[in-house]
Amino acid sequence: MDALNLRKARIYLTGFMGSGKSTIGPILANTIGYDFVDVDRTIEQETGMSVNEIFQELGGERFREMERKLVIELSNKSNLVVSLGGGTMVDPENYRAISSSGIIVYLKTNPALLFKRLHRKTDRPVLTKIPGHLLEEEELRARIEELYRTREPIYAKADITIQTDEKRVGITVDEVVKKLSQYLA
Ligand code: S3P
Repeated sequence: MDALNLRKARIYLTGFMGSGKSTIGPILANTIGYDFVDVDRTIEQETGMSVNEIFQELGGERFREMERKLVIELSNKSNLVVSLGGGTMVDPENYRAISSSGIIVYLKTNPALLFKRLHRKTDRPVLTKIPGHLLEEEELRARIEELYRTREPIYAKADITIQTDEKRVGITVDEVVKKLSQYLA
């Protein structure tokens, strides 16, 4: 099997928190007839803890270990759409496993819109000092912009980039399917 034939068995959705990975993922999977796995939700199901609880009680490093283990497992399964966490691709080991085993789709969303979507959410521990608590608005805005700056070049290594912004979910899925079709053919 050549490299692309192998890679088309898995589609990875990447992008910042709030970019729509978990919303787009199941619809995309349904559309192309693949199974769907969400990395964060799987870790939550397997541990019986929320991502917040894992960060708070076991620490962020332990969450990253679980994430790495799951990514390796998923990279060996077929016909799968995987919604990664916003930090998954930042880990070089994860990036190697993902890029060699699948097609990466980056859902690109501008930081101002990310702020709008995230500013009342308490379930993103990397955007807080204390998991479950909100940062002050200006502090949160700066945190999102700083993380966005460091992560954007990593997400941009994806095979396909879709600018999502205010587009309706169905439109974004259509665009992903259209761009994917040249890989899946
Ligand atoms: C994280 C993103 C989250 C989750 C965890 C860490 C990150 O996933 O994995 O809170 O480092 O960006 P979403 O992108 O699905 O929110």
